[in-house]
Amino acid sequence: MKITLRIWRQPAADQPGRYERHGLADVSPDVSLLEALDQLNEQLISAGERPVSFEHDCREGICGSCGFLVNGQAHGPRIATSVCQLYLREFEDGAELTLEPWRAKAFPAIQDLMVDRSALDRLIAAGGYCSTGTGQAPDGNALPVGRDQATSAFSTATCIGCGACVASCRNASASLFVAAKLAHLGQLPQGQPERASRAKAMQDQMVTEGFGSCSSHLECEAACPQEISADWISWMHRERRG
Ligand code: SF4
Ligand code: FES
Repeated sequence: MKITLRIWRQPAADQPGRYERHGLADVSPDVSLLEALDQLNEQLISAGERPVSFEHDCREGICGSCGFLVNGQAHGPRIATSVCQLYLREFEDGAELTLEPWRAKAFPAIQDLMVDRSALDRLIAAGGYCSTGTGQAPDGNALPVGRDQATSAFSTATCIGCGACVASCRNASASLFVAAKLAHLGQLPQGQPERASRAKAMQDQMVTEGFGSCSSHLECEAACPQEISADWISWMHRERRG
């Protein structure tokens, strides 16, 4: 198939950016969009031009490294799908795809489709550690977790930290990310000792990092490749009130 990629090119954070169009005249519909970018980069390198910078690692939808806007949608048009799992067969032959980086004050530009998402790491760090008792290793059954409780905690533990919720939110809020992290630990016995202080620290850090507030538009839930429910944001606000 044939596609045109209209890509945001920005050499560095302090330099202006612009869109560049590049065509791929013969590309398999069964390659992922990242593999199409690989193919484009081989063309660019062969022509002596700078390749397109984008982030990736696992390419299996589990690490959260990838992520950019495809035709204005975080991770593209397919629901519950990170951009590394987005295949060209989703698009019409001859389609033009506009690729641009996450745009949020808390995610400063690095180059092309890459932004600095270390603010998400600092949110995690603000949550601190979980206390553990010292002495003998506890028996495996000493902290029983019910099936429903474990399933609910796991549904939030699936957050891969990609930042699509921030990029798709008109306020660039990290509420879904923080809610997922708080709900993961807050539902398990191991997360109880610091539960209240963790909720306060991470929500305060969200403000410090320049993320906006949640105004319940729910774009985050729609864009989340892990289908994490925005109901957890309400849960997080109740945590804050104690
Ligand atoms: S909540 Fe969803 S969209 Fe937000 S960082 Fe986690 S996986 Fe990505
Ligand atoms: S590269 Fe790991 S989730 Fe996409």
